[in-house]
Formats: sequence, structure tokens, C-alpha cells
Amino acid sequence: MKKILLGITGSIAAYKSADIASKLVKLGYDVHVIMTESATEFVAPLTFETLTRNRVYVDMFREEDHRQVRHISQSTESDLILVAPASYNIIGKTATGVADDFLSSVLAAAPAGKVIFAPAMNVNMYHNPILQENINKLTKLGYRFIEPEEGMLACGVLGKGCLRNVPSIIETVEGFFHDKLLQGKKVLITAGATREYIDPIRFISNSSSGLMGVSLAKACRDFGADVTLILANSHLNIEGVNLIRVQTVAEMYQAAVDHFPTTDLMFAAAAVSDFKPVTYSESKIKKSDTGLVVELERNTDILLELGKMKQNQLLIGFAAESENLIPNAVGKLNKKNLDLIIANDLSNFATDDGKVWLVTSETAVELERKPKLQLAYDIVKMILNMTNNLSGAK
Ligand code: CTP
Repeated sequence: MKKILLGITGSIAAYKSADIASKLVKLGYDVHVIMTESATEFVAPLTFETLTRNRVYVDMFREEDHRQVRHISQSTESDLILVAPASYNIIGKTATGVADDFLSSVLAAAPAGKVIFAPAMNVNMYHNPILQENINKLTKLGYRFIEPEEGMLACGVLGKGCLRNVPSIIETVEGFFHDKLLQGKKVLITAGATREYIDPIRFISNSSSGLMGVSLAKACRDFGADVTLILANSHLNIEGVNLIRVQTVAEMYQAAVDHFPTTDLMFAAAAVSDFKPVTYSESKIKKSDTGLVVELERNTDILLELGKMKQNQLLIGFAAESENLIPNAVGKLNKKNLDLIIANDLSNFATDDGKVWLVTSETAVELERKPKLQLAYDIVKMILNMTNNLSGAK
């Protein structure tokens, strides 16, 4: 069981730490809490003792068992130290080497790579160059930060400084524990639904949400890859990747061709419009009584073109089929010069979970239905097994 030390400092956002603690416990982590004295002014330690079923530490001199140097053992025994909310003060203390209470002493004894700070404070404090310099210094040393959000702050001002939303914090924690299977590798992903415009407001598109591609981008990022995600018309957000938002096939094609030569592993997860209107009307098309015929022509097949350019890249496509799933997927694998194709039936479209087959010219491996983020982790791990850990790639 992974042990997480949750450090809580004096901020009104300390009440959100209860939700963080509760969610981490439900995910199976062994959560231990250290609060600063000022954090206890906002929330009672009892809240966290009840949620985590572990003793909460505040003061290192009120130790019952002095045979153990508690701040050292807490640092070495935990797999991750998450400070949420992290005040201006605790970031400043860690950056300048001040250890004058339990939490700052634990942080002083911990390796940088084990620590994540989720800052929360007033907007002016957040933008204070002293804090920004401290964050830069700590980041260079290997500490990680979860950027705060914009929102209505406790002081009644609108600005950046709100503790990041709890699901994003949990996602970062989960990502921290994934093996760095793709460390040093460059991954390129296309995702979302392209649009081909008929006039300034009407277009041809499809119902793909982009969730599968975004989930793959998150999984590859968490496995340590340097990820570029070319995302078409999706409301989804992602951090820690090079995100290129596009609308049309032409834009997606250009971005893909620009990045493909330096890529190790590519997933084409986008639902691309196979056709585009022959003519585009600069002004909005007015309705007429006679109806409207829109003439369509073939669009560029991005994946087919990348298959022609392929050198050492591992090239992976998707096949969305309503019948003959595996034979049709194998047909696309061969036609587009792919190393592997992920076959799914149309029921996976615009849904939160999915079930897929990983198809090569020799085999088809079935992966069970799961939420797409979990499925993405399984897909990446299985592909690395099937392709001998990217040995064919650069
Ligand atoms: N693809 C692409 N560019 C296109 C069409 C598809 O890059 N113009 C990619 C998709 O991202 C996917 C794979 O090709 O990885 C297969 O897409 P799919 O829509 O299943 O098949 P198509 O090749 O379009 O063939 P069909 O629509 O006839 O099934």
C-alpha cells in the first residue's frame, strides 16, 4: 500500500484537504496528515484522524515516543509528500532552507522528487516575484507544483490563487505513481473530431469527444513521455503536454507532419472527416425553397500519409467499425503501414468507457471494458509488451 503524507498549511482552502484525504483513502492509499499550527485554526485535526484513521501530527515536540525521530521517519517512509494547500510561507521556507516546525522539518528531510506542492493564496501573493522565484528554484531542484486556479479568492478578489480542483490534484497523485515506462520518448497523438466548414458557421463533423486520445496523452505523460497532442474541437483540457488545438483536417495534417519526424510513438486517435465540401461559402448560406446540395470531395488521410513517411516510428491507428471489426482493422493496418491498430466498435464513440482489441498482423488481444483513462494505461502497457518495449522505435 503506498503511503502518502498530506501536509496541510494555513489557508481557507484547508477545508478542501478533507476531500483530498477522503478520496485518497478511498483509492487505497495509506494517508498520514501533518498540519501546521495555523492550518488547525481552519480545520480540526480530528476531521483528518477520522477520515484517514491515522494520527495527525502538528507539533514535533509533543511526541509520545521519543525513540523515533518522527520527522525523519515520516520523510523516509512515505512514497509521496503532497502539500495541499501550500501557503506562501511553506514554499518560502522549503526554498530557503527553514525548518522550524514539523511540516517544514519533514520537507527539509525529504528528497525533492517525492514532494508535490499545491499552492493556494491571495492573487498578489501568488504573483509576488519572490514566490515565483522560490517556485522556479524548487522546480529546478525537482519539486513539483500543481498550479492554482483562477477564481473568487477568500479576500473577495477574482484572480489566480485558488487551490486546484480536487479531481485534478488526485489525478496528479495517481500519475506520480506510474512507472516511467516512456521516459525520454516523444509521443504524438491526434484526437477529437475535425470540422470541415461549409460556411462560416456550418460544418461537417462527428460525435467524437476526444476522450480516448486525451486519455492516451495523459497516460503517456504519466509514463514519463514528452507528449504532443493535436486536439480537434474538444472541450477537454490536459496539462503537462504540448497541446495544439486545431479545427480542420488541413490544420491537423500540418501539425502532424511537422512533429512526426522527431516522434518515437504515434497514436492517431482522431475521428477525421473523410470528406470536405468542394466549395466554401464566405457568407452564411441563405435557405431557399429548392433545397441544398453540398458536393463533397475526399480529404487527406493523415494516417496514410504518415505511414508513407514512417522510418523508425511506432505508428498506431484506430479503427472504428460497425461490422467485421478485426478483418477491417487488419485491412487498415496493412493499407496504412501501421505497427498496430486499436480496433473498437462504434459503441465506444462519445462514451466515458471503452473496450478495444489491439491488433497486429499476427494477433488480436482483447482488453476489457474500462473508463477510458484506465483503459489508456492498459493500452500503453500492453503495446509496450507487444512491441518489445519500443525496441523498434528510435
Ligand atoms: N484517419 C486519418 N485521416 C483520415 C481518416 C482516418 O488520420 N482522413 C485515421 C484515424 O485517426 C484512425 C484511422 O485513420 O486512426 C482509421 O480511421 P477510420 O475512420 O476507422 O477509418 P478510415 O480510414 O476513415 O476508413 P473508413 O471510414 O472507410 O472505415
